[in-house]
Amino acid sequence: MISIDNFLNEADEVERHAESALADASDEAELTAARNKYLGRTHGERARIKDLLSQLAPADKPAAGKRYNELQARLEHLLATATTRLAGANAGALSAERRALSADPSMPGRETWHGSLHPVTQVIDEIVSIFRELGFTIALGPEVETEWYNFGALNFPADHPAMDLHDTLYVDQPGMLMRTHTSPVQVRTLQRYAPPVRVLAPGNVYRRDFFDATHAPAFAQIEGLAIDEGVSFADLRATLTTFVRRFYGQEVGVRFGPSYFPFTEPSAQLDIEFDPGDGRGRRWMEILGCGLVHPAVLESAGIDSERYSGWAFGMGAARIAMSRHSIPDIRLLYDSDVRFLEQFAR
Ligand code: DAH
Repeated sequence: MISIDNFLNEADEVERHAESALADASDEAELTAARNKYLGRTHGERARIKDLLSQLAPADKPAAGKRYNELQARLEHLLATATTRLAGANAGALSAERRALSADPSMPGRETWHGSLHPVTQVIDEIVSIFRELGFTIALGPEVETEWYNFGALNFPADHPAMDLHDTLYVDQPGMLMRTHTSPVQVRTLQRYAPPVRVLAPGNVYRRDFFDATHAPAFAQIEGLAIDEGVSFADLRATLTTFVRRFYGQEVGVRFGPSYFPFTEPSAQLDIEFDPGDGRGRRWMEILGCGLVHPAVLESAGIDSERYSGWAFGMGAARIAMSRHSIPDIRLLYDSDVRFLEQFAR
Protein backbone atom coordinates (compact mmCIF):
# COMPACT_ATOMS: atom_id res chain seq x y z
CA MET A 1 0.00 0.00 0.00
CA ILE A 2 1.23 3.52 -0.76
CA SER A 3 -0.43 6.80 0.12
CA ILE A 4 -1.90 9.20 -2.40
CA ASP A 5 0.62 11.88 -1.33
CA ASN A 6 3.44 9.52 -1.99
CA PHE A 7 2.04 8.70 -5.41
CA LEU A 8 1.60 12.35 -6.37
CA ASN A 9 5.16 13.16 -5.28
CA GLU A 10 6.52 10.31 -7.40
CA ALA A 11 4.55 11.53 -10.40
CA ASP A 12 5.77 15.12 -9.98
CA GLU A 13 9.33 13.92 -9.73
CA VAL A 14 9.12 11.88 -12.92
CA GLU A 15 7.57 14.80 -14.77
CA ARG A 16 10.32 17.20 -13.64
CA HIS A 17 13.15 14.87 -14.65
CA ALA A 18 11.56 13.98 -17.97
CA GLU A 19 11.09 17.65 -18.76
CA SER A 20 14.76 18.45 -18.45
CA ALA A 21 16.02 15.21 -20.04
CA LEU A 22 13.87 15.67 -23.15
CA ALA A 23 14.48 19.41 -23.41
CA ASP A 24 18.26 18.89 -23.12
CA ALA A 25 18.54 16.06 -25.62
CA SER A 26 20.86 17.41 -28.29
CA ASP A 27 20.94 14.54 -30.76
CA GLU A 28 19.09 11.42 -31.88
CA ALA A 29 20.89 9.15 -29.40
CA GLU A 30 20.13 11.30 -26.37
CA LEU A 31 16.51 11.61 -27.43
CA THR A 32 16.17 7.83 -27.77
CA ALA A 33 17.78 7.30 -24.35
CA ALA A 34 15.39 9.79 -22.71
CA ARG A 35 12.40 8.26 -24.48
CA ASN A 36 13.32 4.77 -23.30
CA LYS A 37 13.95 5.94 -19.76
CA TYR A 38 10.65 7.79 -19.35
CA LEU A 39 8.29 6.33 -21.93
CA GLY A 40 9.73 2.80 -22.34
CA ARG A 41 6.93 0.31 -22.65
CA THR A 42 7.88 -2.02 -19.80
CA HIS A 43 10.80 -0.52 -17.88
CA GLY A 44 10.17 3.21 -18.31
CA GLU A 45 9.23 5.55 -15.49
CA ARG A 46 5.74 5.98 -16.88
CA ALA A 47 5.24 2.22 -16.64
CA ARG A 48 6.54 2.25 -13.08
CA ILE A 49 4.04 4.96 -12.07
CA LYS A 50 1.29 2.99 -13.73
CA ASP A 51 2.22 -0.08 -11.68
CA LEU A 52 1.95 2.00 -8.50
CA LEU A 53 -1.74 2.56 -9.22
CA SER A 54 -2.53 -0.94 -8.12
CA GLN A 55 -0.97 -0.34 -4.73
CA LEU A 56 -3.32 2.50 -3.80
CA ALA A 57 -6.37 2.29 -1.56
CA PRO A 58 -9.54 2.05 -3.68
CA ALA A 59 -10.70 5.49 -2.48
CA ASP A 60 -7.51 7.12 -3.83
CA LYS A 61 -7.60 5.48 -7.21
CA PRO A 62 -9.75 8.03 -9.08
CA ALA A 63 -7.48 10.97 -8.17
CA ALA A 64 -4.35 8.95 -8.86
CA GLY A 65 -5.69 7.72 -12.20
CA LYS A 66 -6.41 11.30 -13.23
CA ARG A 67 -2.88 12.34 -12.34
CA TYR A 68 -1.48 9.37 -14.22
CA ASN A 69 -3.40 10.36 -17.36
CA GLU A 70 -2.10 13.93 -17.08
CA LEU A 71 1.45 12.69 -16.68
CA GLN A 72 1.09 10.43 -19.66
CA ALA A 73 -0.20 13.27 -21.88
CA ARG A 74 2.53 15.59 -20.63
CA LEU A 75 5.29 13.06 -21.41
CA GLU A 76 3.93 12.45 -24.93
CA HIS A 77 3.83 16.19 -25.50
CA LEU A 78 7.41 16.66 -24.30
CA LEU A 79 8.59 13.85 -26.54
CA ALA A 80 6.80 15.30 -29.58
CA THR A 81 8.28 18.75 -28.93
CA ALA A 82 11.79 17.36 -28.59
CA THR A 83 11.39 15.23 -31.74
CA THR A 84 10.24 18.23 -33.79
CA ARG A 85 13.04 20.38 -32.44
CA LEU A 86 15.71 17.84 -33.44
CA ALA A 87 14.15 17.23 -36.88
CA GLY A 88 14.28 20.96 -37.54
CA ALA A 89 17.91 21.05 -36.54
CA ASN A 90 18.67 18.13 -38.88
CA ALA A 91 16.90 19.76 -41.78
CA GLY A 92 18.85 22.94 -41.19
CA ALA A 93 22.10 20.99 -41.24
CA LEU A 94 21.03 19.15 -44.38
CA SER A 95 20.07 22.25 -46.33
CA ALA A 96 23.35 23.90 -45.34
CA GLU A 97 25.09 20.83 -46.74
CA ARG A 98 23.01 21.00 -49.93
CA ARG A 99 23.93 24.64 -50.39
CA ALA A 100 27.57 23.74 -49.92
CA LEU A 101 27.26 21.09 -52.64
CA SER A 102 25.39 23.66 -54.78
CA ALA A 103 22.57 21.23 -55.69
CA ASP A 104 21.12 21.78 -59.16
CA PRO A 105 17.35 22.33 -58.80
CA SER A 106 16.87 22.07 -62.57
CA MET A 107 17.93 18.41 -62.59
CA PRO A 108 15.06 16.08 -63.64
CA GLY A 109 13.47 14.19 -60.78
CA ARG A 110 13.72 10.45 -60.35
CA GLU A 111 11.02 8.68 -62.31
CA THR A 112 8.68 6.41 -60.39
CA TRP A 113 7.25 3.12 -61.64
CA HIS A 114 3.47 3.22 -61.67
CA GLY A 115 2.81 -0.35 -62.77
CA SER A 116 1.00 -1.37 -65.93
CA LEU A 117 -1.08 -4.14 -67.43
CA HIS A 118 0.74 -7.41 -68.14
CA PRO A 119 1.64 -7.84 -71.84
CA VAL A 120 -0.67 -10.87 -72.09
CA THR A 121 -3.54 -8.84 -70.61
CA GLN A 122 -2.78 -6.02 -73.05
CA VAL A 123 -2.97 -8.47 -75.96
CA ILE A 124 -6.30 -9.88 -74.73
CA ASP A 125 -7.75 -6.38 -74.30
CA GLU A 126 -6.64 -5.34 -77.75
CA ILE A 127 -7.98 -8.47 -79.46
CA VAL A 128 -11.27 -8.15 -77.59
CA SER A 129 -11.64 -4.54 -78.68
CA ILE A 130 -11.00 -5.36 -82.35
CA PHE A 131 -13.64 -8.11 -82.28
CA ARG A 132 -16.06 -5.85 -80.42
CA GLU A 133 -15.94 -3.50 -83.38
CA LEU A 134 -16.74 -6.48 -85.60
CA GLY A 135 -19.92 -7.12 -83.61
CA PHE A 136 -18.72 -9.74 -81.11
CA THR A 137 -19.62 -9.74 -77.41
CA ILE A 138 -17.83 -11.46 -74.53
CA ALA A 139 -18.77 -14.87 -73.13
CA LEU A 140 -17.21 -16.61 -70.13
CA GLY A 141 -17.28 -20.14 -68.80
CA PRO A 142 -15.98 -22.03 -65.74
CA GLU A 143 -12.35 -23.12 -65.45
CA VAL A 144 -13.38 -26.30 -63.60
CA GLU A 145 -15.38 -27.99 -66.31
CA THR A 146 -17.22 -31.25 -66.93
CA GLU A 147 -15.77 -33.88 -69.20
CA TRP A 148 -18.84 -33.53 -71.38
CA TYR A 149 -18.45 -29.81 -72.12
CA ASN A 150 -14.67 -30.08 -72.51
CA PHE A 151 -14.66 -33.18 -74.75
CA GLY A 152 -17.95 -35.00 -75.33
CA ALA A 153 -20.04 -32.09 -76.56
CA LEU A 154 -17.15 -31.07 -78.80
CA ASN A 155 -17.25 -34.35 -80.70
CA PHE A 156 -14.10 -35.88 -79.23
CA PRO A 157 -14.30 -39.66 -79.66
CA ALA A 158 -14.43 -41.52 -76.33
CA ASP A 159 -10.86 -42.80 -76.70
CA HIS A 160 -9.26 -39.54 -77.88
CA PRO A 161 -5.69 -39.22 -76.50
CA ALA A 162 -6.35 -35.65 -75.23
CA MET A 163 -8.59 -37.20 -72.57
CA ASP A 164 -5.74 -39.26 -71.20
CA LEU A 165 -4.67 -38.74 -67.57
CA HIS A 166 -1.28 -37.74 -68.94
CA ASP A 167 -2.68 -34.80 -70.87
CA THR A 168 -5.48 -33.45 -68.73
CA LEU A 169 -5.73 -32.31 -65.10
CA TYR A 170 -8.70 -34.11 -63.61
CA VAL A 171 -10.05 -32.93 -60.28
CA ASP A 172 -11.10 -35.04 -57.35
CA GLN A 173 -14.68 -35.46 -58.51
CA PRO A 174 -15.91 -37.90 -61.14
CA GLY A 175 -16.24 -36.38 -64.59
CA MET A 176 -14.68 -33.04 -63.61
CA LEU A 177 -11.47 -31.49 -64.91
CA MET A 178 -9.60 -28.24 -65.41
CA ARG A 179 -10.71 -27.17 -68.88
CA THR A 180 -7.98 -27.81 -71.45
CA HIS A 181 -9.27 -25.16 -73.84
CA THR A 182 -11.89 -22.40 -74.06
CA SER A 183 -13.92 -24.33 -76.66
CA PRO A 184 -16.47 -25.58 -74.07
CA VAL A 185 -17.69 -21.97 -73.90
CA GLN A 186 -18.98 -22.48 -77.47
CA VAL A 187 -21.47 -25.09 -76.30
CA ARG A 188 -22.41 -23.24 -73.09
CA THR A 189 -23.10 -20.09 -75.10
CA LEU A 190 -25.20 -21.85 -77.73
CA GLN A 191 -27.28 -23.50 -75.01
CA ARG A 192 -28.15 -20.10 -73.58
CA TYR A 193 -28.49 -17.82 -76.58
CA ALA A 194 -30.29 -18.46 -79.83
CA PRO A 195 -28.42 -17.62 -83.05
CA PRO A 196 -27.28 -15.29 -84.46
CA VAL A 197 -24.41 -15.56 -81.98
CA ARG A 198 -21.06 -13.82 -82.21
CA VAL A 199 -18.91 -14.14 -79.10
CA LEU A 200 -15.34 -13.96 -77.97
CA ALA A 201 -14.39 -16.06 -74.94
CA PRO A 202 -11.06 -15.24 -73.30
CA GLY A 203 -9.97 -17.27 -70.28
CA ASN A 204 -7.43 -19.52 -68.60
CA VAL A 205 -6.94 -23.15 -69.54
CA TYR A 206 -4.89 -25.97 -68.00
CA ARG A 207 -2.85 -28.86 -69.30
CA ARG A 208 -0.49 -31.44 -67.92
CA ASP A 209 2.44 -29.94 -69.79
CA PHE A 210 5.97 -29.33 -68.63
CA PHE A 211 6.82 -25.67 -68.19
CA ASP A 212 9.32 -25.15 -71.01
CA ALA A 213 10.17 -22.45 -73.53
CA THR A 214 6.99 -23.01 -75.54
CA HIS A 215 4.52 -24.56 -73.03
CA ALA A 216 2.93 -23.44 -69.79
CA PRO A 217 0.67 -25.71 -67.70
CA ALA A 218 -1.77 -22.81 -67.27
CA PHE A 219 -2.26 -20.20 -69.95
CA ALA A 220 -4.82 -17.87 -71.48
CA GLN A 221 -6.71 -18.67 -74.65
CA ILE A 222 -9.13 -16.61 -76.70
CA GLU A 223 -12.00 -18.46 -78.37
CA GLY A 224 -14.19 -16.99 -81.07
CA LEU A 225 -17.56 -18.25 -82.33
CA ALA A 226 -19.95 -16.97 -84.99
CA ILE A 227 -23.20 -18.83 -85.75
CA ASP A 228 -26.00 -17.77 -88.08
CA GLU A 229 -27.93 -18.94 -91.12
CA GLY A 230 -25.83 -19.31 -94.24
CA VAL A 231 -22.43 -18.68 -92.65
CA SER A 232 -19.54 -20.13 -94.65
CA PHE A 233 -15.76 -20.44 -94.73
CA ALA A 234 -15.69 -17.13 -96.65
CA ASP A 235 -16.98 -15.36 -93.51
CA LEU A 236 -14.30 -17.02 -91.40
CA ARG A 237 -11.62 -16.06 -93.86
CA ALA A 238 -12.73 -12.44 -94.20
CA THR A 239 -13.21 -11.85 -90.48
CA LEU A 240 -9.94 -13.43 -89.37
CA THR A 241 -8.00 -11.68 -92.15
CA THR A 242 -9.49 -8.35 -91.05
CA PHE A 243 -8.53 -9.11 -87.46
CA VAL A 244 -4.96 -10.09 -88.31
CA ARG A 245 -4.38 -6.98 -90.42
CA ARG A 246 -5.79 -4.76 -87.68
CA PHE A 247 -3.63 -6.42 -85.04
CA TYR A 248 -0.32 -6.95 -86.86
CA GLY A 249 -0.53 -4.35 -89.63
CA GLN A 250 -1.79 -4.19 -93.22
CA GLU A 251 1.38 -5.62 -94.71
CA VAL A 252 1.29 -9.06 -93.01
CA GLY A 253 0.91 -12.14 -95.18
CA VAL A 254 -2.12 -14.31 -94.34
CA ARG A 255 -2.59 -17.94 -95.32
CA PHE A 256 -4.89 -20.76 -94.28
CA GLY A 257 -3.64 -24.32 -94.21
CA PRO A 258 -5.35 -27.64 -93.49
CA SER A 259 -5.55 -28.90 -89.92
CA TYR A 260 -7.67 -31.18 -87.75
CA PHE A 261 -9.88 -30.62 -84.71
CA PRO A 262 -12.77 -32.90 -83.71
CA PHE A 263 -15.10 -29.91 -83.31
CA THR A 264 -14.56 -28.32 -86.73
CA GLU A 265 -15.02 -29.58 -90.28
CA PRO A 266 -13.15 -28.49 -92.28
CA SER A 267 -10.42 -27.41 -89.85
CA ALA A 268 -7.66 -24.95 -90.63
CA GLN A 269 -4.69 -23.21 -89.16
CA LEU A 270 -3.98 -19.57 -89.80
CA ASP A 271 -0.39 -18.59 -90.53
CA ILE A 272 0.85 -15.06 -90.82
CA GLU A 273 4.05 -13.77 -92.36
CA PHE A 274 5.67 -10.77 -90.77
CA ASP A 275 8.90 -9.45 -89.32
CA PRO A 276 8.77 -9.64 -85.52
CA GLY A 277 11.81 -7.35 -85.42
CA ASP A 278 14.18 -9.86 -83.82
CA GLY A 279 16.77 -9.52 -86.57
CA ARG A 280 15.82 -12.81 -88.23
CA GLY A 281 13.54 -11.14 -90.75
CA ARG A 282 10.12 -11.86 -92.16
CA ARG A 283 8.77 -15.39 -91.81
CA TRP A 284 5.60 -17.51 -91.46
CA MET A 285 4.16 -18.29 -88.03
CA GLU A 286 1.09 -20.23 -87.02
CA ILE A 287 -1.14 -18.10 -84.77
CA LEU A 288 -4.45 -19.90 -84.38
CA GLY A 289 -6.65 -22.91 -85.13
CA CYS A 290 -10.04 -22.45 -86.72
CA GLY A 291 -12.73 -24.07 -88.84
CA LEU A 292 -16.42 -24.47 -89.57
CA VAL A 293 -18.23 -25.67 -86.46
CA HIS A 294 -18.94 -29.41 -86.75
CA PRO A 295 -22.68 -30.16 -87.01
CA ALA A 296 -22.33 -32.57 -84.07
CA VAL A 297 -21.28 -29.65 -81.85
CA LEU A 298 -24.33 -27.62 -82.87
CA GLU A 299 -26.55 -30.63 -82.17
CA SER A 300 -24.91 -31.11 -78.71
CA ALA A 301 -26.01 -27.58 -77.88
CA GLY A 302 -29.51 -28.17 -79.22
CA ILE A 303 -29.04 -26.07 -82.37
CA ASP A 304 -30.54 -27.23 -85.67
CA SER A 305 -27.48 -27.92 -87.81
CA GLU A 306 -29.57 -28.01 -91.00
CA ARG A 307 -30.59 -24.42 -90.47
CA TYR A 308 -27.53 -22.91 -88.81
CA SER A 309 -23.82 -23.02 -89.49
CA GLY A 310 -20.83 -21.09 -88.30
CA TRP A 311 -17.15 -20.87 -87.66
CA ALA A 312 -14.85 -20.79 -84.65
CA PHE A 313 -11.25 -20.16 -83.75
CA GLY A 314 -8.97 -20.54 -80.75
CA MET A 315 -5.62 -18.97 -80.00
CA GLY A 316 -3.10 -18.72 -77.18
CA ALA A 317 -2.79 -15.18 -75.86
CA ALA A 318 0.79 -15.67 -74.64
CA ARG A 319 1.86 -16.95 -78.06
CA ILE A 320 0.38 -13.84 -79.64
CA ALA A 321 2.22 -11.62 -77.16
CA MET A 322 5.43 -13.56 -77.90
CA SER A 323 5.04 -13.14 -81.65
CA ARG A 324 4.33 -9.45 -81.32
CA HIS A 325 7.24 -8.62 -79.01
CA SER A 326 9.60 -11.41 -80.21
CA ILE A 327 9.77 -12.93 -76.74
CA PRO A 328 11.79 -16.15 -77.06
CA ASP A 329 10.59 -18.07 -73.97
CA ILE A 330 7.02 -18.27 -72.64
CA ARG A 331 8.30 -18.57 -69.06
CA LEU A 332 9.41 -14.93 -69.18
CA LEU A 333 5.74 -14.00 -69.30
CA TYR A 334 4.97 -15.91 -66.10
CA ASP A 335 8.02 -15.03 -63.98
CA SER A 336 6.53 -11.73 -62.77
CA ASP A 337 9.96 -10.10 -63.03
CA VAL A 338 9.25 -6.38 -63.13
CA ARG A 339 12.55 -5.63 -64.91
CA PHE A 340 11.29 -7.73 -67.82
CA LEU A 341 7.65 -6.64 -67.70
CA GLU A 342 8.25 -2.90 -67.52
CA GLN A 343 9.56 -2.93 -71.11
CA PHE A 344 5.96 -3.45 -72.21
CA ALA A 345 4.43 -0.80 -69.95
CA ARG A 346 2.21 1.70 -71.65
N1 DAH B 1 -9.47 -25.67 -78.75
C1 DAH B 1 -8.30 -25.74 -79.61
C2 DAH B 1 -7.05 -25.99 -78.76
O1 DAH B 1 -7.05 -25.72 -77.62
C3 DAH B 1 -8.11 -24.46 -80.37
C4 DAH B 1 -9.18 -24.29 -81.42
C5 DAH B 1 -8.99 -24.76 -82.68
C6 DAH B 1 -10.36 -23.67 -81.11
C7 DAH B 1 -9.95 -24.60 -83.68
C8 DAH B 1 -11.36 -23.52 -82.07
C9 DAH B 1 -11.12 -23.99 -83.36
O2 DAH B 1 -12.51 -22.92 -81.83
O3 DAH B 1 -12.09 -23.82 -84.32
O4 DAH B 1 -6.08 -26.45 -79.30
